[in-house]
Amino acid sequence: MSTKAPKPLVTFYSGEELPLELHKVRIVQKLFLVPIERRLEALNEGGYNTFQLRTTDVFLDMLTDSGTNAMSDNQLSAMMQADDAYAGSQSFYRLLKAVEDVLGMKHFLPVHQGRAAENILSTAYVTKTSLVPMNYHFTTAMAHITQNGGRIVELLYPEAYVINSVHPFKGNMNVEALEECIQRTGREHIPFIRMEASTNLIGGQPFSVQNMRDVRAIADKYKIRLVLDASLLGENAYLVKQREKEFMNKSMQEIIQTFTSMADIVYFSARKITSSRGGGICTNQEAIYKELEALVPLYEGFTTYGGISIREIEAMAVGLYETLDETMICQSPSFIKYLVDESMKKGIPMITPAGVLGAHVDAMSFCKHIPQTEYPAGALATAFFLISGVRGMERGSISNQRDEEGNETYADMELLRLAVPRRVFTLSQIKYVIDRLSWLFDNRELIGGLKFTYEPTVLRFFMGKLAPTSDWPTKLMAKFRQDFGDSL
Ligand code: F0G
Repeated sequence: MSTKAPKPLVTFYSGEELPLELHKVRIVQKLFLVPIERRLEALNEGGYNTFQLRTTDVFLDMLTDSGTNAMSDNQLSAMMQADDAYAGSQSFYRLLKAVEDVLGMKHFLPVHQGRAAENILSTAYVTKTSLVPMNYHFTTAMAHITQNGGRIVELLYPEAYVINSVHPFKGNMNVEALEECIQRTGREHIPFIRMEASTNLIGGQPFSVQNMRDVRAIADKYKIRLVLDASLLGENAYLVKQREKEFMNKSMQEIIQTFTSMADIVYFSARKITSSRGGGICTNQEAIYKELEALVPLYEGFTTYGGISIREIEAMAVGLYETLDETMICQSPSFIKYLVDESMKKGIPMITPAGVLGAHVDAMSFCKHIPQTEYPAGALATAFFLISGVRGMERGSISNQRDEEGNETYADMELLRLAVPRRVFTLSQIKYVIDRLSWLFDNRELIGGLKFTYEPTVLRFFMGKLAPTSDWPTKLMAKFRQDFGDSL
C-alpha cells in the first residue's frame, strides 16, 4: 500500500499546493455574516445545537454535504425534461440505465433518501436476534437496525482510532475480527455485513479494494449478504486511485464497479453521491430485488419514483455519470486536504490523513479541559459558530445513542466536522475558516462544556437542546471583540 497523499490535478510553478477550482460559478447565493452578538442570540434560541440554527444567521454552512453539493448545469437542464408519471416514467428508465452504466447493477429501487434505504433493508432482514457487523456505524443505519430489535458491531483495525496517522485506509474492516465475530455469533444471526464507503463518523476515511475483497471472501465462506453503503463511494474510489497501487492507473468507473461488483446490495444517499435528492437500493440478484420491492410502495412511493420528485430522478441520473468525472469528484477532497494541512501547520489538532466529506477537528485534544460528560465536540461546534459564523456538526457523544439501559455511550472520537460540499466554497472562504479556527485554538481555554436541557430518545442530536455549563459564551464573545474590534 502506498501512503502517498492525494495531489491536486494541477501543479503550480510557485510550488504551492493549491486546490484549483475546475468549474466556474454561474449562479450565486448571498450569504449572511451577522455580528457575533446576533450569533450568541441565535445559539441561545437554538439550544446550542447547530442543527437548530437558521441559515440567515450562518455565514459558511459546513453542517453537511447532504443535499448541499452544488448541482451542475447538466443536472439542472435534465430536471426540465422530467416525465412526471406515477408509474413507468421515462425518467426512471434513464436513471436505471445510469445505475447500470455507472454502478454496474441491473435492479434499482428508488427511495426518498439514504435512511429510507436503511429502513427497507432493516425491515426486510433485521430481527431481534440479529447482529450486523460493519466497519463503522452511521447514525441512521444504526438507528434503523436497533429500531428493528437488532444490534451492531463495529470492526475496524486499531489504526482507525489513531488521530494522526499516515495509514491510507483507516476505514478498512478488520477481517480477522469479522471472521471471529461470525464464528462466535453464528452465521444465521447475521443478516448482512455492512461496509460503509469513507466511514463518515471517524473522519471520512476510505477502505481499500483489497479490504473489500477480503470481506467478500469471508461473506462467501459463510454465505452472508454483503451490503455496501455507497453514499460516499465516489470519493472513496478517488482516494483508492490516489493511494492503492493496483488502481492508480484505473478509471473511476473501473474502481467504482470493482467495489459494487463485490456487493450483494448497494444502497446510497443521492443527497451525497449524486449532488441531488433521493436515494436508492441496487442489486444484481432478482431474489433480493423481489424481497425488497414490496416495501418501496409501502414506505416510499411507486417503484418508478420512490417518494422523490421526478425532477430529482433526472438529476440523480446525470449526477451518477458525473461521479465518474475526476475533476468534479476531486474538488471536495482536495479542498479538505488544504484545510487540514494548513490547520495542522498552525498546531490545530485535525484527523489525518485528510479524508472525504469534511475536515475533522479533534475536539478531545482541542478542548482537553472539557470532560466527555460535557460534550467537547458539541461545545467546540458552538464556540466555533459563535466566533466565525461557520456552522459545523458535532460528531461525537451527542451523535451517539444511549444503550438499552439508558446509559450514555461515549463516542470513540469527539469530532467537529467541517463539511466541504462539492464546488460550493471558494479558497478565500476556506482561508477564513482556518484563520478563525486558529484564533479559537489560541483562545481554547475560554470554551466550556454543554449539558442537555431536552434530550429526545431517538437521534437526539437533531432536535436536542443544550445549554452552556457556565457563562463561557459571553466571555468568549468579549475576547473576540477585544481582539477583532468591530470586525464581523
Ligand atoms: N450513509 C452515510 C454514509 C451517510 O453519510 C448518510 C447521511 C446516510 C447513510 C443517510 O442518508 O441523509 O440521505 O438519509 N449523512 C448525512 C451527513 C446526513 O451529514 O453525513 P440520508
